[in-house]
Amino acid sequence: MKARVAVLAGDGIGPEVAAEGVRCLQAVAALCGHEIELTPLPFGGAAIDAAGDPLPDATLAACRTADAVLLGAIGGPKWSAPEARVRPEAGLLRLRRELGTFANLRPVAVHAALADASTLKAEVVRGVDLVFVRELTGGIYFGEKHRDATRASDVCSYSAAEIERIVRLAAQLAQARRGHLTSIDKSNVLETSRLWREVTTRVVQQEFPHLTLEHMLVDAAAMHLMRRPRDFDVLVTENMFGDILTDEASMLAGSLGLLPSASLGGSGPGLYEPIHGSAPDIAGRGIANPCGMILSVALLLRHSLRLPAEAAALERAVSSALGAGAHTADLAGLPGASLSTRAMADAVLSSLRRP
Ligand code: IPM
Ligand code: MN
Repeated sequence: MKARVAVLAGDGIGPEVAAEGVRCLQAVAALCGHEIELTPLPFGGAAIDAAGDPLPDATLAACRTADAVLLGAIGGPKWSAPEARVRPEAGLLRLRRELGTFANLRPVAVHAALADASTLKAEVVRGVDLVFVRELTGGIYFGEKHRDATRASDVCSYSAAEIERIVRLAAQLAQARRGHLTSIDKSNVLETSRLWREVTTRVVQQEFPHLTLEHMLVDAAAMHLMRRPRDFDVLVTENMFGDILTDEASMLAGSLGLLPSASLGGSGPGLYEPIHGSAPDIAGRGIANPCGMILSVALLLRHSLRLPAEAAALERAVSSALGAGAHTADLAGLPGASLSTRAMADAVLSSLRRP
């Protein structure tokens, strides 16, 4: 097959990990006879410097016509002053919104060889296999903002329709997995959460009667994720709770650098990015973990290019590289020399087998 992928490398470690993601994508394509055209585009802080806009019109236009968008990371101290007029993050939020990718899938699976890399006890994290479905284009991220000298506010708002579509997608995913859906909210305090709970209950009762649905308050969810993470299958939640809980959940896997994400649901291309940020503290040193990025490429193969066998082959390659002891410095709980970004990707590539 032929496909076109827009590549938004971004800032900090973004370009370092994106380069390895692209290399893996091309390797899979070469192995399986696909032709993938890559279009690198300016985005984030780099685009602010070049064009004064974190999401230049030409970048957005090229993303819209691509089959998928692969994104590194954005942001950094250079663009984060409190008085900054324009921020890289605004470009990312606008891109998600413009592409209509309301569903952000963040799978967390603990690799057997990495159970000891977690700061949690191996017997707690071993066998964890869950997926967060984070609502991505609504809530407090996108509500009206106000700021004057002595007061600031951010409005959190959700419509029933926005809740229905994300719950439906999460429920479908749960149905294809272990049939257990956890909906996370703060309905003891927030009106949006009371609507969230009501709509979720109705959608699941009417359309997915065979699922077990559990409602959990977000504070309790933060605790249970650490206490009994194996009990979770699919978790669905609003934008900001999902942002916070997935950073927390990455610690089950051993490192933030391991986790991929897929943002889906729009009529155009899906958006694929590791869940980590631009990590300015280690940028330019070639030591970032490329696995979150490479696994995002696998999600891209599966969801946007409809190549499930190729996706699985790449996931298996990451898994066998990790299993064989290849790891970057962020997996510091493990003994042995740590690999550079490039050497880690090399280890993945040498484990890659034709599906
Ligand atoms: C993420 C990031 C973004 C978010 C930032 C960079 C705007 O933390 O993708 O999780 O909060 O969504
Ligand atoms: Mn985040």
